[in-house]
Amino acid sequence: MLKETFKYYKRKCPPPSLKELIDFSSKDSTENYATSCLGQINNSVGLTPSSEWKIFQLEDKPGFIFISNPFTSIGQRYWICRCVKHYTRKPNRLNLDVHGDIKDGDWWTQCQNDYEQGSKLMEKLRWATLGYHHNWDTKVYKESDRDPFPEDLAALSKQVASIVGFPQFSAEAAIVNYYHMDSTLSCHTDHSELNLDAPLLSYSFGQSAIFLLGGRSKEEKPLAIRIDSGDIVIMSGESRHYYHGIPLIMPAKQSSWNLKANEEFSDEFLRPISLMENPEILDSMHQELQNDKLWEPFEKYISTSRINMNVRQVLPFGQSSL
Ligand code: SIN
Repeated sequence: MLKETFKYYKRKCPPPSLKELIDFSSKDSTENYATSCLGQINNSVGLTPSSEWKIFQLEDKPGFIFISNPFTSIGQRYWICRCVKHYTRKPNRLNLDVHGDIKDGDWWTQCQNDYEQGSKLMEKLRWATLGYHHNWDTKVYKESDRDPFPEDLAALSKQVASIVGFPQFSAEAAIVNYYHMDSTLSCHTDHSELNLDAPLLSYSFGQSAIFLLGGRSKEEKPLAIRIDSGDIVIMSGESRHYYHGIPLIMPAKQSSWNLKANEEFSDEFLRPISLMENPEILDSMHQELQNDKLWEPFEKYISTSRINMNVRQVLPFGQSSL
């Protein structure tokens, strides 16, 4: 069933009907977690107040939680910039590492500066791994394949997880997926983590996608869910074991990462991310996120790309290494 539905939505000619697509952006939230939220939202990670969030659950997919874009526009820009400019640097690992294409370990700068090969190199980026590096062959994490996890992404994930009832969540590994308009991700389950009781948090930015959510078996008919920029998918409990995949990337309905006319950039936003390693990074981001000219390269990238940050806890609660 999974395979057939995947093929159906991937189909170009004739294009699939989107009649059965679940589009949470047009629905009112039934559950209001915000009122029972455990902590105050700290807007330093780019989130709106949790009292404004629209959070959904699906009756026959226990543990699946969908948060309809809880980010501010500047918040979305922040995470887009982090994913393309910073998370693509060492110590993080990229699919491109094996090709030897990146000369000085800085993919983004090389893409911007190389007029001949830059756009080709840009298209070749498919994933980055952070923290405990995912091993694509063995699917087994190793302590020797671990680097520090970005503190800002850990802080964001702690806040989001707390709001939906997982205050103990600790972000220890992430895969950042970079999609182009013709990319797909075949259906799979994520089971490498020792701790499958901890939720998996999945943040999307840029162009939209169809997300297929199946069950434990490939025979189960999956649901097709629309994911737009800023949306967060959480797979916890039973649904943490479910097959899922991306058969189609679609043009975004709106560029929700573009600043609203009255949106002010506040220093508040970046200061607590002194969490972050390097004050120079903060300074340049300050400019890049709000100055249209400096934002332009990011805009160009995201106008034909989708980015997904897939964050996991690897270790059992209370354990600090494998
Ligand atoms: C994944 O399951 O690894 C990524 C899903 C997504 O891109 O939304």
